Amino acid sequence: MHTLHAHITRSLAAREAQHLRRHLHTLDRSSATTISVAGQSLLSMASNNYLGLANHPDVVHAAQQALLEWGVGAGASRLISGSSTCHHRLETALAQFKRMEASLVFSSGYMTNVGMIPALIDRHGLILADRLCHASLLDGCRLAKTPLRVFHHNDMDHLRRLLAKYTAKRPVLVVTEGVFSMDGDLAPLPELLELVAQYDATLYLDDAHGTGVMGPHGRGTLEHYQADRGNASTWAQDALVQMGTLSKAIGVSGGYIVGSRNLIEYALNAARSFVYSTALPPALAAAAYTALSLLEMEPARRARLWANREYLFAELTALGFHLPPTQSPILPIVVHTPEQAIRLAQELFKRGIFAPAIRPPTVPKHQCRLRLTVTADHTSEQLQYVVQALKDAGEALRLL
Ligand SMILES: Cc1ncc(COP(=O)(O)O)c(C=O)c1O
Repeated sequence: MHTLHAHITRSLAAREAQHLRRHLHTLDRSSATTISVAGQSLLSMASNNYLGLANHPDVVHAAQQALLEWGVGAGASRLISGSSTCHHRLETALAQFKRMEASLVFSSGYMTNVGMIPALIDRHGLILADRLCHASLLDGCRLAKTPLRVFHHNDMDHLRRLLAKYTAKRPVLVVTEGVFSMDGDLAPLPELLELVAQYDATLYLDDAHGTGVMGPHGRGTLEHYQADRGNASTWAQDALVQMGTLSKAIGVSGGYIVGSRNLIEYALNAARSFVYSTALPPALAAAAYTALSLLEMEPARRARLWANREYLFAELTALGFHLPPTQSPILPIVVHTPEQAIRLAQELFKRGIFAPAIRPPTVPKHQCRLRLTVTADHTSEQLQYVVQALKDAGEALRLL
């Protein structure tokens, strides 16, 4: 049978057989550290709400006030009649925070990547992307219809060879992440910036997981390396396009780019996901603005996040779990097969902990994992409990 319906049924059955079928968990309630599913309260180790700002009363209040003033939906795309003072204020703040000239807000991080990458490069150019780039980056690359070469993860020698081979012939966009979303390690940004400068290429940096988390002021992975523009950096503003999300440490929803004024003017004309989609609701822009102010004014949140991260990382390593070389609050426990990942997630679930199993195509085959994320709001008692539960579950499944 070749009907679409038969294809769907076969495809679902194949996923089930390989332990790759995904299911929704419908939550009754959620915060950075606790969720409730079907009446059962669970300790969450699965949120990107790294600083707990999604539930902060000031952030909620900002959204409520803006809802009263602007209503729920933006009513139109930004270029028609959907561009409010809430968007404008947020964009000004984001540009200042990232120490760049200007910024443009999209309705999600995914939309930012699928709109920006094709706007930046066409079929006459070339994209060089890190092998572990997020799906939204790869989808952006596909939409660009530009030839794509993948370089080995964080392998600067491999990237250099590809740049040497191709840059004389065509414009090149190098695509990578500041903090890799599934491994938690960092891209070597100083070397990347040097390489793109040397070969006249452009770097597209997705700092979804770096913003609010990395660097002394949370400005992101560039600040972590003291390579943001406030730190006497030498890179030209046009050599770098940075994107981020409002959905992770900022705790709201939406995506953005920051760069030169020229880049932003171009983006709002050329990024199709910006031009042809209804604007982010003004209330979310207002909430994100408040969250960004809190993120800047309350460094203690980031300090707590990092103290929690250091504790959990040390304990998991001491237990003998295999962790990739993470340098962030993303702590992946690699267990290889999808079945092992699911069983470990189930063992934790039985003990009242929610940590999802991550399987292909999100991660490469044989690198299935439990992706734990730690937040500023986790208490030491909660983290101690997680360590004990992982020890028990790991021993029960003979992973330790
Ligand atoms: C690295 C990376 N880029 C982009 C996105 C997409 O962001 P959003 O969830 O805001 O659409 C995500 C998160 O899902 C991500 O992890």
